[in-house]
Amino acid sequence: MPFKRRLILVSNREPYSFKKGKVELSAGGLVTALDPVMQRTRGIWVAWGSGEKERDRAGKAEKVRVPPQKPAYTVKRVWLSHKQLENYYHGYSNRFLWPLCHIVLDRVYLKRAYWNDYKKVNRIFADAIVEEVRSKKAVVWLQDYHLAVCARYIKEKKPWLATTIFWHIPWPPYDVFRVCPQRREILEGMLANDLIGFQLDSFSRHFMDCASIELGADIGLREGVIYYKGHVTKVRDFPISVNFNWFEKCALSKRIKKFLEGIRKTRNLPADGKIGLGVDRLDYTKGLMKRLEIMDLFFSKYPRFRKKFTFIQVAVPTRKVEPFLSYRNRVEKRIDYINRKHGRQEWVPIIYIETKLDQKKLAMLYRIADIALISSVYDGMNLVAKEFIASQVDEDGVLLLSEFAGAAEEIPGATLINPYDIEGCADILRSALERPLEDRRHDMHMARNFVRGNDIFKWVDNILAEMETI
Ligand code: UDP
Ligand code: G6P
Repeated sequence: MPFKRRLILVSNREPYSFKKGKVELSAGGLVTALDPVMQRTRGIWVAWGSGEKERDRAGKAEKVRVPPQKPAYTVKRVWLSHKQLENYYHGYSNRFLWPLCHIVLDRVYLKRAYWNDYKKVNRIFADAIVEEVRSKKAVVWLQDYHLAVCARYIKEKKPWLATTIFWHIPWPPYDVFRVCPQRREILEGMLANDLIGFQLDSFSRHFMDCASIELGADIGLREGVIYYKGHVTKVRDFPISVNFNWFEKCALSKRIKKFLEGIRKTRNLPADGKIGLGVDRLDYTKGLMKRLEIMDLFFSKYPRFRKKFTFIQVAVPTRKVEPFLSYRNRVEKRIDYINRKHGRQEWVPIIYIETKLDQKKLAMLYRIADIALISSVYDGMNLVAKEFIASQVDEDGVLLLSEFAGAAEEIPGATLINPYDIEGCADILRSALERPLEDRRHDMHMARNFVRGNDIFKWVDNILAEMETI
């Protein structure tokens, strides 16, 4: 779609990595879909200059033209001090908002300093954005929970500037959100935007409830608008997706046979053994401990599957702060225990790969897996589910998908599981392993048609089209 306005895209994470002078596009659907739009509109992408110690340059920014081989747009890297980063990113964003929005209240942790620096950093971002506005044709698109109050600071300086935020994670119901001592300021910050996007209709409704109860805002439920202090904010749902064609192409790699043989040989998997797969950041919202309980029970209850079924878990270390750090230890210990308990000779039930794999390799893993198991206790969408489907070119795998992941509300053909019901999940896993090929094909075909028709490019087009109407 021809988007004619100059896009100022803002996210905490950078779209490129800038390591040792090497500039590389980061993996991930959002970047893949938006990089071409940015190149076309010659926009600017503002993000935290991560990966380097920049204490003395805090609050300042550096501009880099990308892509390096044919510069078309600018990445503006905002430097933050160590303290700002600790309080804004690790603290308020990841120790407070993340568990709050995922309704894991016993992990919610808050300090006043977190909030103070969160506001400060949102203001730093706002200043960096406003500096880049040259005409009324510019539009600002903020990403995610790191930037909840940024629009408010933007509007203080440029009230006419159109701003949108897309909230990638869930928005909780009011009964949960009211735990937040800064709830009024967060809501007012969000409502400074002209358009707010959520993954699902239920998150939009939760947000509207919060605005109505907490602020007394007027809600136009049917039109999806909120009126507050003379300003109108549209609220829409845009379920995010993946680059279907890219995953399909990678999964069709000629190397696939060798890849599978290599895994079977190095990991001692029997030729007729089935493979299960999990791919996650080491994050408690992904329900990894529950998944391991399912595996433990499954191999206890159905010992005939020992050596016949092996589970590969790719786990990416994430956010160097509690409780993510101790969660990683718990996962490692539990896997060790299960492998000792159910392992036989050279075979282990769980192959644990604790590293970030590139997505080409992931696509091949998705293809060779007979089962993908997603056990999130709450998840905005879960792109892994859609990537698995896009890579299932043989249409013979089964997706076991937590009903608490956003993807479960969308994808036809997924087998829904409740990760709190460990016994139920172990039984569903068994029946999925025994499901006839014809049934698997039927479901996977449906799922693939859906994701093919609703890919990341469609997601971007839908949001940009809505932004044009502001
Ligand atoms: N991912 C990756 N390498 C890995 C594991 C994951 O590139 O080793 C990517 C994966 O392909 C997906 C993203 O990380 O695009 C995870 O997205 P998801 O929505 O599933 O969860 P999130 O981490 O955003 O909560
Ligand atoms: C989720 C969030 C993103 C975040 C990503 C990785 O997908 O919605 O905003 O970038 O996790 O987390 P990190 O803290 O490493 O950026």
